[in-house]
Amino acid sequence: MSPRVAVITGAARGLGQEFAVALAGRGCPVAGFDIADQSVTQKRIEDAGGSFLPVPVDVTDETSVRAAVTTVADYFGGLHIVVNNAGIFPPILFEDTTLDDWHRILRLNLDGPFLVTRAALPHLRAASWGRVVNIVSAVVFLGPPDLVAYTTSKAGLVGFTRALATAVGADGITVNAIAPGLTATETAIATTGADGGFDRVRALQAVPRTERPEDLISTLLYVCDEGSGFLTGQTINVDGGSARH
Ligand SMILES: NC(=O)c1ccc[n+]([C@@H]2O[C@H](COP(=O)([O-])OP(=O)(O)OC[C@H]3O[C@@H](n4cnc5c(N)ncnc54)[C@H](O)[C@@H]3O)[C@@H](O)[C@H]2O)c1
Repeated sequence: MSPRVAVITGAARGLGQEFAVALAGRGCPVAGFDIADQSVTQKRIEDAGGSFLPVPVDVTDETSVRAAVTTVADYFGGLHIVVNNAGIFPPILFEDTTLDDWHRILRLNLDGPFLVTRAALPHLRAASWGRVVNIVSAVVFLGPPDLVAYTTSKAGLVGFTRALATAVGADGITVNAIAPGLTATETAIATTGADGGFDRVRALQAVPRTERPEDLISTLLYVCDEGSGFLTGQTINVDGGSARH
């Protein structure tokens, strides 16, 4: 892949950190958008000889997102790849879900990608080349009972992926979604994966082991590849075969 400038939201830890390290490892200058400290990500990338710009920003804040995108484009001289990864997935029974829970989940998981992508698009268009990658979830195929608000948000992001792909296809920009299964990040281990969650999900999978963040890297690189310009509007499920989509 030639060096394209990438923004990864939620790059401080978990999947976002792995995505940032992987793209930096392919020569991409990478910026991370996060509300948390990104020094671990920065150290991993810089120790490996890569380039990383940590930008402290809440991706649900419109004004801050615009400023953050401008900062990245000015610093690296452009912007080509947007990975909308920041998200929350708190398990809550449907009958216990408050309107505040609902709004909090939709705000980060849907407003975030909308704001970041909308702010970044002029830069992708200026380059006549772009990759927007939305991190959704295999829950859109499985529909687990304790993740109704979350599943709704990620299904919304699948719709966003499809319609936006149509809107920007003529500009050399692809828009795709990657759907991980339950993956052993710190957050998943403490929440969805706790109390036997990993065992239950593993029992559904064709590949009988717990998904790791590294399992998603080849798909991210594939979607972002120079040769993937005809791949757009798709949701690629990488969950060990629990949902055979
Ligand atoms: N881990 C899984 O099992 C799994 C499975 C399917 C999909 N996903 C999706 O993958 C993505 C990453 O999951 P993860 O397990 O790595 O999560 P995580 O909790 O480890 O990381 C999320 C990151 O987003 C950041 N963040 C939170 N709110 C933010 C905000 N307002 N602005 C900017 N950054 C913010 C956090 O600080 C954190 O660094 C999420 O969208 C999640 O829904 C995860």
